[in-house]
Amino acid sequence: MNDAAGRGIFVVLEGGEGTGKTTQVRALAARLRESGREVVETFEPGDGVVGGRIRELLLDPGLAPEPVTEVLLYAADRAEHVRTVVRPALARGADVVCDRFLWSSLAYQGIARGLGARLVESANAAAVDGCEPDVTIVLDVDPGVGLVRAGRACGRAPDRIESESLEFHELVRRGFRDLAAVNGAPVVDAGRGVDEVGESCWDLVRELLATRSGGDRR
Ligand code: TMP
Repeated sequence: MNDAAGRGIFVVLEGGEGTGKTTQVRALAARLRESGREVVETFEPGDGVVGGRIRELLLDPGLAPEPVTEVLLYAADRAEHVRTVVRPALARGADVVCDRFLWSSLAYQGIARGLGARLVESANAAAVDGCEPDVTIVLDVDPGVGLVRAGRACGRAPDRIESESLEFHELVRRGFRDLAAVNGAPVVDAGRGVDEVGESCWDLVRELLATRSGGDRR
């Protein structure tokens, strides 16, 4: 149990390919644990048995689902993830640090695929079911740089979404930046070294924890 009110924090890292989210999720989780908190590290799409199967469908380069089908598959993964991983962890007072959440659908499917925010939001309403992050941190890097980094980091053929055009990934980046601006969310320059980016993320999480211990009771 992580604070006097028995609640953990729900932190989401968002961003395009090769922004270093996975590394920073791990680093944030480690720092939270060092400060004595219980933490669940997780990701979308695909954390869990059902989610893993949905991920295979979503990222298979041999498939070409309709854009609406794609939105609904990401939403199905999210419905499962919220109910089997995120909510149970928060309910027992653990922190959740998550690699991608709803904003990925808004940026990739809403903006880059051009489906629009309204469709993505309505497709996700039942999936998210009011389970909102306490903070969403957007990691921002030039997609030209990010795609090269992502290729080097995973050492496998690009998946179906990574294989989209540079223009697509530029729209994704713009989508995340716009979402951050509209929602007053932090954007971290992920073009810097891993440790510097990590310090920026940790500062933001520490601020959130300070607000919590200062008596903010949701
Ligand atoms: P990952 O590479 O971060 O594991 O995510 C897999 C891909 O899925 C990545 O290219 C981003 C994409 N994605 C969406 O298009 N919409 C979503 O809602 C999510 C969660 C991921």
